[in-house]
Amino acid sequence: MPLMEPYRIKVVEPIPITTPEDRHRWLAATGYNQFSLRSEQVTIDLLTDSGTGALSAAQQAVAAGADETYAGASSYYRFREVVSDLTGYNYIQPVHQGRAAERILFGSVLRPGMISVSNTHFDTTRANVELLGCVALDLPCEEAADLDSAEPFKGNIDLARLRQVLAGPDRPRIGQVLMTITNNGGGGQPVSMANIEAASRLCREHGVPFFLDAARFAENAWWVTQREPGYADWTPRQVAQRAFALADGCVASLKKDGIVHMGGLVAVNDPELAEQCEMLCIATEGFRTYGGLAGRDLEMLAQGLIEVTDPLYLRARADATRYLGSLAKAAGVSIVEPAGIHAIYLNAKRLLPHLTASQFPGHALACELYLQGGIRCVELGSLYLGTLNERGELQSGPPFELVRLAVPRRVYTQSHLEYVGEVLAQIAKHPERVPGYRMTHVPKLLRHFNCRLERM
Ligand code: F0G
Repeated sequence: MPLMEPYRIKVVEPIPITTPEDRHRWLAATGYNQFSLRSEQVTIDLLTDSGTGALSAAQQAVAAGADETYAGASSYYRFREVVSDLTGYNYIQPVHQGRAAERILFGSVLRPGMISVSNTHFDTTRANVELLGCVALDLPCEEAADLDSAEPFKGNIDLARLRQVLAGPDRPRIGQVLMTITNNGGGGQPVSMANIEAASRLCREHGVPFFLDAARFAENAWWVTQREPGYADWTPRQVAQRAFALADGCVASLKKDGIVHMGGLVAVNDPELAEQCEMLCIATEGFRTYGGLAGRDLEMLAQGLIEVTDPLYLRARADATRYLGSLAKAAGVSIVEPAGIHAIYLNAKRLLPHLTASQFPGHALACELYLQGGIRCVELGSLYLGTLNERGELQSGPPFELVRLAVPRRVYTQSHLEYVGEVLAQIAKHPERVPGYRMTHVPKLLRHFNCRLERM
């Protein structure tokens, strides 16, 4: 089978072509914060793969026939049927996006002072745990710390430490174990079925609920079919079904592997927990048969959740992201190995050794991609994860300075990716020219969205 996307394009949208002078002016006006750019100022938007995918003709067709009834809409039942076949869970609740699912599930499971354990909590997931007065404990596997290692499942949870925590004195405080597939906070790396199985077994032994954060369940399943012994003959859908069956329920942002612009899911088996979630959902999201979504969203989700496990689609997506990774490496920019499927993560610390962590090398590289090529992306380093004082000076930083280039689903072609590779090559020719940054406005909360900086 030749390497190509298993679809063609029939609706297009022009993308803004801008000048370096414009981009310098626009970015300076935002205080060098790409979250404050307008979409007309961005040529290639790799900020996120969330809610940014292209719809299929089939999704648009079912949307046109959607039922917008308040209670009992047929679109809800179609959604439920598809999700039930995929996950096997009894209680299936649509919500408007992933963080609503987190608030509802965690709000029903956790009590103040409890601990949530994960391979890595995504940032909103951590925030929803902490807002409940609980502690979010990340236990990534040891291989994850080596950015260059090509280990196949660097998204795994550290089972030895999980066992220790579950058998230790903190056991009564552990409210849940949450497995994020794929591990977005950990370089977009997948989790093996063996790891999910072992974590699930440990949780059952210790009577702790085990949930999936299944935002990229299909992409995780793809890697399992490609990399895990014993799964070569399984379809991605079968792998995903097995993963869901190993857990007591899930939260999911369906803006990723649902291939829609808005949507999320809470699903559980336990009837009492279901009742609690349903109550919270009705009070804060919407009635149980729509949960904050329109009927057309539910229809498009039902269709998207079928399309997303197509092996031809997943292969093309994995190939495209790997290709982007190979272009970065050919340009002389290291990435977190192996390349993920929803994103590649650039190693800014290695490319810009002349910048100290307090000069925000990841942010500097992200700004350079915009200034030189109109490419928007996001820093995952000292700016986002570091501890800063009120003057914006770094007190302690994370071990890595990364830049995530997330690839929206079915949106960009090979020549767009090649353009990104060219811009990276241009930057990597003279990395010493990339300046550092200093923070001039330091918000107390959600710093990366609202901070302002200046060039040094
Ligand atoms: N869990 C994971 C693993 C995620 O990646 C996200 C969102 C969420 C939960 C929250 O879902 O946005 O629908 O409320 N990730 C996006 C990103 C924002 O860019 O990676 P949401």
